[in-house]
Amino acid sequence: MSILKREFSKLIDMYKEVEKDKVNDDEFRLKYHLMPPIGWLNDPNGLCQFNGEYHIFYQYSPFDAKGGLKFWGQYKSKDLINWNDMGAQVYPDNLNDCHGVYSGSAFVENNQMYFYYTGNVKEVGDFDYINKGRQHNTIMFKSNDGINFTNKKLIFKNIDYPENMTCHVRDPKVFKKDNNYYMVLGARDKNDKGCVLLYKSSNLEDWSFINIITSDEKFGYMWECPDMFELTDKVSKNTKTILCISPQGIEKNGYKYNNIYQSGYFLGNMNLNDGKYDFKEFTELDRGFDFYAPQTFLDEKNRNILIGWMGLPDIDDDYYTNPTVELGWQHALTIPRVLELVDNKIYQKPIEELKELRKNQITKRLNNISIYDELKAEVFELDIEFNNAVNNFELELKEDCKITFNKYKKLIKLTLGNSGYGRGCRAVDLNELSRLQIFSDTSSLEIFVNGGEEVFTTRVYPKNNKDKIVLKGNLDNAKINLYELGEYRYV
Ligand code: FRU
Repeated sequence: MSILKREFSKLIDMYKEVEKDKVNDDEFRLKYHLMPPIGWLNDPNGLCQFNGEYHIFYQYSPFDAKGGLKFWGQYKSKDLINWNDMGAQVYPDNLNDCHGVYSGSAFVENNQMYFYYTGNVKEVGDFDYINKGRQHNTIMFKSNDGINFTNKKLIFKNIDYPENMTCHVRDPKVFKKDNNYYMVLGARDKNDKGCVLLYKSSNLEDWSFINIITSDEKFGYMWECPDMFELTDKVSKNTKTILCISPQGIEKNGYKYNNIYQSGYFLGNMNLNDGKYDFKEFTELDRGFDFYAPQTFLDEKNRNILIGWMGLPDIDDDYYTNPTVELGWQHALTIPRVLELVDNKIYQKPIEELKELRKNQITKRLNNISIYDELKAEVFELDIEFNNAVNNFELELKEDCKITFNKYKKLIKLTLGNSGYGRGCRAVDLNELSRLQIFSDTSSLEIFVNGGEEVFTTRVYPKNNKDKIVLKGNLDNAKINLYELGEYRYV
């Protein structure tokens, strides 16, 4: 262990000692979501499964619940239920990453884990930090056990990126296709147009540039956290290349693009030889208030698993301050979701492993009633299958959050009240409502609509009526399954 790493880890342990009781006593600590032990968390990083074990790294600022110097924190697990908290594992410890170990990914092959990330360096001076003053270095390191990591190797500096790039080039994601390896990097060009850089390698260490991938029309000024992977459509059986990005600078348009920044995907065909991608429409991955910078990985069962950050960057204190900040921590990751492509649309399914957490089950079939308020729970999974076409439906929970569906408006909507700091509503067009699957934790909601056709992810902080569940509307023949959920176990 380097001296710097040893000293940093001592300091983090001291902060933890001071903060841990306050953090752990917080009523809003989540039961089955990964959170920072103390301090701040943002993007999921380095997601992979290696020799049976899942590794979930994350952007981690242990010293300040509002962010700051970034490390990679790490959790690992054999079953996605019992976790080892490995704490901070990748440190800013050299001239190429001294202002932060920024986001990146993992690639696993032949008993080796390869990690790629962005080393952030912010030079001191009078700079705009867009065109000047910032270094975004692409760096790699390896591991053959997920615990010990090799020295870091610099792959690219700013001058290695195409000439028309600003200093914002980051978040490498590596994948394999046929016998080659590819890397996508998110970028902002000098015309303030978001794009992705595509590189190719035959040995995972030496990379050559292929192309700048960008839409014809400008779609935001920066594309963060790119991800590229294939899914085979369950209906057409065609294999598509998904380009997932987190674009910044997109204008709100009706119910679309309502958060400060977006996350979503294009579905197209990729020619990896010339790096040409045929762009189709962009679809948001999530419709809620708190979702950003998702990353996917393929596990040993060949599942495409997505995990997102249940939060957003650059949130203004006037808009809302997460109440956990004063208790010394902020943010969490979403539950893992398995991706499927169905008729040209990505569906997200809560990962099966979470069934392990189910405790009590209440099953009900509703008949001839328009209000049902007998259920009470705080940390739960609620599965509602609507037997008949639903015209009007409302579910109120977590003090005063409302999910409403109106068949005439063809809209499903999530409205936050006090417990969501009055942040308003988010909605998406929906023709029919056939199923709602709701994962509720102490301070979060993940709502899967029609088997994952749409998802709403949001943080909420109920103070009263935390266990309220009230259903209203056309409930005839609706089948309800409510499961209380237990907690992740940390070893
Ligand atoms: C996305 C992001 C990434 C960057 C990281 C820094 O939330 O801005 O682009 O690498 O966070 O923490």
